[in-house]
Amino acid sequence: MDHGRLSMPVGEVMFTQRSIRRFTPDPIPMEDLRLIIEAAMRAPNGGNSQVARFLVVTDRARIREFGALYHEAWWAKRVEQFGWTKQEDIPADNKSYRSAAGLADAMKDAPCVVFALAVPPGSANSVIPAAQNLMLAARALGIGSVPTTLHPNVMDRFHAMFDIPRDVTFHFCIPLGYPQGKFGPTNRKPTAETTFLGRWGGKVPWT
Ligand SMILES: Cc1cc2nc3c(=O)[nH]c(=O)nc-3n(C[C@H](O)[C@H](O)[C@H](O)COP(=O)(O)O)c2cc1C
Repeated sequence: MDHGRLSMPVGEVMFTQRSIRRFTPDPIPMEDLRLIIEAAMRAPNGGNSQVARFLVVTDRARIREFGALYHEAWWAKRVEQFGWTKQEDIPADNKSYRSAAGLADAMKDAPCVVFALAVPPGSANSVIPAAQNLMLAARALGIGSVPTTLHPNVMDRFHAMFDIPRDVTFHFCIPLGYPQGKFGPTNRKPTAETTFLGRWGGKVPWT
């Protein structure tokens, strides 16, 4: 596989891979989707058992149909978590959830949606590194993404919609597309707060 097109410096890729939730309608070339999936499959995984499976959907009608399911799933989770039922219930300063609610509306228009799944035993640990590789490769090609999940309420219909066998585990739903807006830096806690040296609570030598 020619990975030469993934030539953006890895630092730039990682430090600008913020969640992209609004996409232009432009389709992603199939060769780019292949390269992204090839990168995903290169990720470490338990015992090299390679349980990760990817379902790539580019058909507009299917994505539209899935978009309705995603919208229902996203709001089912918010009702459960916070009792929110509509956009106005989300606190104005909660930018993360406000944009995520925007994605619940916009999923139906994504040019591509990739589902990260696993065959039995279906462990998430062997899918998460692959999902991140997938999103990094996408970023290097100028393609935005965001990892999202679903809700138990919709899982039967999700499996039926795409003929996914019952014993295949769902892990992530990742919309892909060229960003409306920009890639950019992420907002994270200082690593001196999240990292210890030598023992729990041990201070790292940077601030
Ligand atoms: C397990 C997981 C679930 C997520 N679920 C959603 C989601 O349902 N909707 C969404 O818009 N973003 C979702 N995200 C993306 C996060 O909201 C996002 O990574 C986080 O707010 C940090 O923002 P950034 O990626 O732009 O830096 C999810 C991320 C992870 C890792």
